[in-house]
Amino acid sequence: MSKDNPRAIHLKDYRVPPFLIDRTELHFELGEKATLVKSRLSMRRNPDSDEGDAALQLHGDTSLVLRRLQLDGKDLSVSDYQRDDESLTIAQLPDNFVLECVTLIKPQENTSLEGLYKSNGMFCTQCEAEGFRKITFYLDRPDVMSVFTTTIVANRQDYPVLLSNGNPVEQGEQEDGRHWCRWDDPFKKPAYLFALVAGKLEQVDDSFTTQSGREVALRLFVEPQNLDKCDHALASLKRSMAWDEQVYGREYDLDIFMIVAVDHFNMGAMENKGLNIFNSSCVLANPATTTDAGFQRIEGIVGHEYFHNWSGNRVTCRDWFQLSLKEGFTVFRDAEFSADMGSRTVKRIEDVSLLRTAQFAEDAGPMAHPVRPASYIEISNFYTLTVYEKGAEVVRMIHTLLGAEQFRKGSDLYFERHDGQAVTTDDFIQAMEDASGIDLGQFRRWYSQAGTPVVEVSDDYDAEQRRYRLKVRQHCPATPESDSKQPFHIPLAVGLLDEQGNDLDLGDGQTTKILHLTEAEQEFVFEGIDSQPLPSLLRGFSAPVKLRYPYSAEQLVFLMAHDSDGFNRWDAGQRLAVDLMQGLISDYQQGRELVLDRSLVEAYTKVLSDRSLDPAMVAKLLLLPSEAYLAELAEVIDPEAIHLVREFVKRELAQALQGLLMDAYRHNRSEGDYQLNADAIARRSLQNAALSYLMTLEQPRILVLAQHQFASADNMTDQLAALSLIAHSGFESERQQALSEFYQQWQQDPLVVNQWLSVQATSPRDDSLTQVKALMAQPLFDLTNPNRVRALIGAFCGQNAVQFHRADGEGYRFLADQVIALDKLNPQIASRLLTPLTRWKRYDSRRQALMRAQLERIMAGELSKDSYEIVSKSLA
Ligand code: ARG
Ligand code: ZN
Repeated sequence: MSKDNPRAIHLKDYRVPPFLIDRTELHFELGEKATLVKSRLSMRRNPDSDEGDAALQLHGDTSLVLRRLQLDGKDLSVSDYQRDDESLTIAQLPDNFVLECVTLIKPQENTSLEGLYKSNGMFCTQCEAEGFRKITFYLDRPDVMSVFTTTIVANRQDYPVLLSNGNPVEQGEQEDGRHWCRWDDPFKKPAYLFALVAGKLEQVDDSFTTQSGREVALRLFVEPQNLDKCDHALASLKRSMAWDEQVYGREYDLDIFMIVAVDHFNMGAMENKGLNIFNSSCVLANPATTTDAGFQRIEGIVGHEYFHNWSGNRVTCRDWFQLSLKEGFTVFRDAEFSADMGSRTVKRIEDVSLLRTAQFAEDAGPMAHPVRPASYIEISNFYTLTVYEKGAEVVRMIHTLLGAEQFRKGSDLYFERHDGQAVTTDDFIQAMEDASGIDLGQFRRWYSQAGTPVVEVSDDYDAEQRRYRLKVRQHCPATPESDSKQPFHIPLAVGLLDEQGNDLDLGDGQTTKILHLTEAEQEFVFEGIDSQPLPSLLRGFSAPVKLRYPYSAEQLVFLMAHDSDGFNRWDAGQRLAVDLMQGLISDYQQGRELVLDRSLVEAYTKVLSDRSLDPAMVAKLLLLPSEAYLAELAEVIDPEAIHLVREFVKRELAQALQGLLMDAYRHNRSEGDYQLNADAIARRSLQNAALSYLMTLEQPRILVLAQHQFASADNMTDQLAALSLIAHSGFESERQQALSEFYQQWQQDPLVVNQWLSVQATSPRDDSLTQVKALMAQPLFDLTNPNRVRALIGAFCGQNAVQFHRADGEGYRFLADQVIALDKLNPQIASRLLTPLTRWKRYDSRRQALMRAQLERIMAGELSKDSYEIVSKSLA
């Protein structure tokens, strides 16, 4: 970074805004070379501000060309205001005034995909967090809420559809081939929820009748070639609307709800009031092109954005340090929605897997931050697993502490008390406390302290006294913001199993009890216990902590078979496999021969033979801990040992369980007759898990099975699973053939091409970096399309540890090259891509030096705030 280093912004410096904007009238003239933005802001001094006659400081990006500025109808000249890189300042203003502003912007040249930009010929916006300041001068902060009226003028031929927030109120034609449309949003909102779309779009219509009997028009806008991929999103939307009424009593508030799909998008989707904008990969689906996981993901994201209408839009954030107020709560809401739509246990397993690998790794790295960060340089860098996923876990713990009923009272009070306001995470907790009468004082530390607490449990049983005791200790490792941590309030859900595997009654027929850990060390006593029980700890993953208890392999196998808590049954299997694999990793490192302990074979035999189990559960139980999870748990990460050991265990299991795996494959495979329901999805997941084991045997007869599945599949789940197994195998000509057939079949569909790119990027074969570079050189690759970048570069660097961490350091050099190039085009994507390099301290000294050298090389150039923050914090 050559210029002045960017400054950090601190929560403690928060001041209420000195000015407010009551009304915002916007007028856009969309053009092929440039767009003219006229704004008319009705403003006044904020009576709650203590800054007296402060000057007005509007946010505005350097790229804005200011054409005209008027105060109460009179032109201001350059001497009446000051401009710098980020703002425009006007002094000596009256208490009430109207500010009019004309700016010129160039959406065509905007590759940052923030503010107004173009994607495949259509105009669209992304304003969260601070994109609105790239459109016009404004108080671009979430605690300034205004009603908006937006007029869009554009050429009718190319932009027949003109959309913004709220309701369409007027439209008309001009003589020059242009037409216009005016939208009015009656709900006050911050600028980050503003949206505009203009393009040649087709629409699919539907409707929803709310619980109070109002009819809401639902509209999904897509490019014409995507009309056959709309049904699932609309069905998901209707389910979301009904669910939010049933579970939270929240009804939709406008007469129209719109979703637009765009191909160029930095994130998943955006909850703009009445006009959600989605990354096409998070909304478009049909069975031929979309996997089961894809369908489920879309349902969850459609729900997430819809739920934001209350948790985010009606009640929004005071400042960006409060981001988890809306994101943590809304992720919790969408997770519960998905759990209610499908399998609760499977959804929990998936969410916890993500948390324990990616969020725990973030918490242990240089970017670790509390759920409510205390400072940031670039807020875009804080749309993190900590704010979203850990934030959701924190809300889940409140739900656990209060119980469903009190939690609902708390959320009702929160929405009622703060409707139309911009508030803080503390306001949220206060509402929960006030409604339930439960003290969450100590619990608040979850918002201010970073790091993953470690909970160590030991126990003893006194047969004479019939007394069982759990001793629990908690501590939390140091993170950048603080070395010493105060104890957290941790709800630890516990059950006790007797020798038959039945739950003991822990009082009043309760079989799971919540222990409240509030001190560094505590003891919990259970009286009247007739024989030594086996504890089932942290049921349902009741808190985002690392739990340690010295389970023996035998005890874990027992829990896998008997625990009444589905999550813990799965987790027992994970612990068993982790223990064995950690032993094998060190055997490998010491040059010892690898031998797989029988316990895992026995456990998996039971799982595969038990026909009473849900196939989705069996598939989850069979899935070995991921390389990323093993890495997170390692003292020093050895990517090669982790990969080889995991492959070894998989192959050994496949050898020992061939017959059972083949049965599971055949039994669950359905040819033709595609269905998208929980049962069919579960069967496909087990079928493909079995095939994945069998393929490790490298037998031609199994290759034939995979090839047959690839060729005959009537859905993307089966086709892609087969493709990736063949493509990652050692069958050279077959893998090339499958990859090229797949491309031939799907080259017209960009979303499928992305999946094809990812299959190649995640290949553990030694030539994968070469392949990735070759694919980047092809015309289909486009550095300005984040989905392409994520599918190829992101997948290679983030999901192919063994190749990214090649001993020669070429993976690191490659990533640095891409970050340097991308940072000029799209800083948000560049800085996100950096994540794997930031973890350099977790590796051996050779790799550390190689990774560090690349970070330093990046640091030496001119950098965006986004990348500067990540790189400088990583090197600190
Ligand atoms: N609020 C959006 C969501 O979670 C995410 C938008 C993130 N945008 C960004 N530029 N970081 O639904
Ligand atoms: Zn969100």
